[in-house]
Amino acid sequence: MKENYTVCNCMQVSYGDIEDALHNLPTFDDVLQAFKGVQLATKCSTGCGGCHQKVLDIISELMMSPASDNA
Ligand code: FES
Repeated sequence: MKENYTVCNCMQVSYGDIEDALHNLPTFDDVLQAFKGVQLATKCSTGCGGCHQKVLDIISELMMSPASDNA
C-alpha cells in the first residue's frame, strides 16, 4: 500500500508528492541534490524548515528501495 501523509505542513506536501517529484527528476546519486530538486518541484521545506530531516529521510528511503513494480 502506498503511504500517504502530509510531510510538510507549511506547504501541504505529502509523501506521495515527494515520491512523484522524485520520480520526475533525473536520477541523482546524491540525496542532497535530489532534495534540492524535490524542494524546487514541491516547495517542501521552504517554510519553517521543520520538515527538512523528514524530507531527507523519505528521499533516502525512496532512493534505496528498488524501482520495481512487483510484477
Ligand atoms: S513543515 Fe515543511 S517547511 Fe514547515
